[in-house]
Amino acid sequence: MPLLEGRGLVRRFGPQVAVDGVTLQVGVAERVGLVGESGSGKSTLGRLLLRLQDVDEGAVCFDGIDITRAGARALLPVRRQLQMVFQDPASSLNPRMNVEQLIAEGLIIHGLHRQGRRARVLELLDEVGLDAALLHHRASQLSGGQKQRVGIARALAVEPRLLLLDEPVSALDVSVQAQIVNLLRTLSTTKQLALLFVAHDLHVVRHLCERVLVMHQGKIVEEGPTADVFAAPQHPYTQALLAAVPIPDPTRRRRPVASVSPSQPSLDSMRRSDR
Ligand SMILES: Nc1ncnc2c1ncn2[C@@H]1O[C@H](COP(=O)(O)OP(=O)(O)O)[C@@H](O)[C@H]1O
Ligand SMILES: [Mg+2]
Repeated sequence: MPLLEGRGLVRRFGPQVAVDGVTLQVGVAERVGLVGESGSGKSTLGRLLLRLQDVDEGAVCFDGIDITRAGARALLPVRRQLQMVFQDPASSLNPRMNVEQLIAEGLIIHGLHRQGRRARVLELLDEVGLDAALLHHRASQLSGGQKQRVGIARALAVEPRLLLLDEPVSALDVSVQAQIVNLLRTLSTTKQLALLFVAHDLHVVRHLCERVLVMHQGKIVEEGPTADVFAAPQHPYTQALLAAVPIPDPTRRRRPVASVSPSQPSLDSMRRSDR
């Protein structure tokens, strides 16, 4: 049984169909990438799956339970298990709150760790690789990478089973992106945590996700194991997206192309060699 499932999801904004009949599943502890260019409907799909926006047609199931029409009360325990991490930690974190308050917020909402809340926050800081000395720093005093680690700690605090990450590294420097992606992979494995990772940059997804869904104009146009989609993209849109992927860090040394594929170096083999 999938952990999270969308069946025939449709969401319209006036005459526009932002999500146009999407069916997808995310398994327990599975890491799934959702890629597509800006405006393809990724964020809307994510909000439908988390019931942050109402579905026009179709159904959302979590852990085998249909939550398509669930009210706020029925959704509260589900919300705890489906947490969200946003693209821009600077605007999603209240700049006047300190790290401890930010991370404890979910614990308070869900009435968790009433005793020993500070200890729980310190544990979470450690899990996301932040120094305990940051406890009383305000969000505005943190670097971009540190803010996103706080965003992840906030989500982890309530022990979710799935994180929806909507372009969580798009605003970060490439070197910081890699650190956050590595952190997410570790957390997913150690906590049996499913990830639905939204990105327009295919490269990020490649090193994190087992499976990838390609979204175009509200529809999933291709899906499969990440390695297969990268090796042999079937849909012209996926091929175009792949061709548009920038080499992430021109200063990072790559193996000479000749040693990768002496005959005909593909763009793909060049990209593969950068890690
Ligand atoms: N609240 C909204 N009101 C009107 N149109 C919206 C709203 N949210 C999204 N859209 C439209 O739906 C389409 C998909 O948007 P979005 O889901 O944000 O795509 P993505 O996350 O892939 O960039 C876009 O054309 C966008 O303008
Ligand atoms: Mg978006």
